[in-house]
Amino acid sequence: MAESLDMFHRAKQRTFSGLTRDAEHRWTGPFYFIQAADPQLGLMKAWKDGNCDGGGDEWTEEVELTKQAVEAVNRLRPRPRFMVLCGDLVHSMPGTEFKEGQERDLKEALKGTDPSIPLIFVSGNHDIGNTPTPSSVENFCKTWGDDYFSFWVGGVLCLVLNSQLFFDASACPQLKEAQETWLEDQLSTAASSSSAGPKHILVFQHIPLYLQRPDEENDYFNLQKEVRQKLLDRFRKAGVKAVFSGHYHRNAGGYFDGLDMVVSSAIGCQLGEDTHGVRVVVVTADGVVHRYHSLEQLSTAGMDEDLRALLEA
Ligand SMILES: [Fe+2]
Repeated sequence: MAESLDMFHRAKQRTFSGLTRDAEHRWTGPFYFIQAADPQLGLMKAWKDGNCDGGGDEWTEEVELTKQAVEAVNRLRPRPRFMVLCGDLVHSMPGTEFKEGQERDLKEALKGTDPSIPLIFVSGNHDIGNTPTPSSVENFCKTWGDDYFSFWVGGVLCLVLNSQLFFDASACPQLKEAQETWLEDQLSTAASSSSAGPKHILVFQHIPLYLQRPDEENDYFNLQKEVRQKLLDRFRKAGVKAVFSGHYHRNAGGYFDGLDMVVSSAIGCQLGEDTHGVRVVVVTADGVVHRYHSLEQLSTAGMDEDLRALLEA
């Protein structure tokens, strides 16, 4: 019991147990990780019923897809250094009737992840609400660990952010302030620590800064222009290489001025033409190379050969 509880509560005190700066600040060569998003237990049924604001009274399909992802990832060699789930872990909004059951069943499906692969959880709008409150955020932290924190892997600094605080913090302004202060500290420390600093900085959040271009219009699926621009400026100044997100349930994104905005489709419900899948991300000395793999492809053929070659270079 203690063990199964632990794998879901490693993000504490704004860091992640086992992946601290002390343990992981040194670059030791290329590695890779798995980025996934939106298992969102319950959306597939809700989408079929045409009731995405409620519904979601069944989630067996998403449980199966999540288990398929876990099994495919477990079979990969070498093993990924971690797997990050970029939000919308379940579909039911805070305080609604199916949330507890969906969260319980997602944990059950994720429990099969090989213990050597840390699971990193990111909060999405369905996890803490479109307008989060102190209590919805607190519940998330109790269930999945801190809503924002940093961790280190092989010399790379990773920042997990709560993008709902960028989207609408009207019901929790202090939480927004606290994340801002923390983020500023993280970015300025990283930017100023030259030789002892990170090889790369990566960001993980649920809502993409943009879907195609930094100057695109506001949309349900991106962050508001003004907020977006400020974050882009801060990230670029600090040398952030890539921002990984979900939310769109389609693959998208774009590379501009040294920053790669990566939008990954869902493990669960597809809203476009993509397949259920996860992204394989290889981190080399030069930067990050990534490709979305369908669960089918990952299960049968493993990761693409050219990505594997980068790890051995
Ligand atoms: Fe979603």
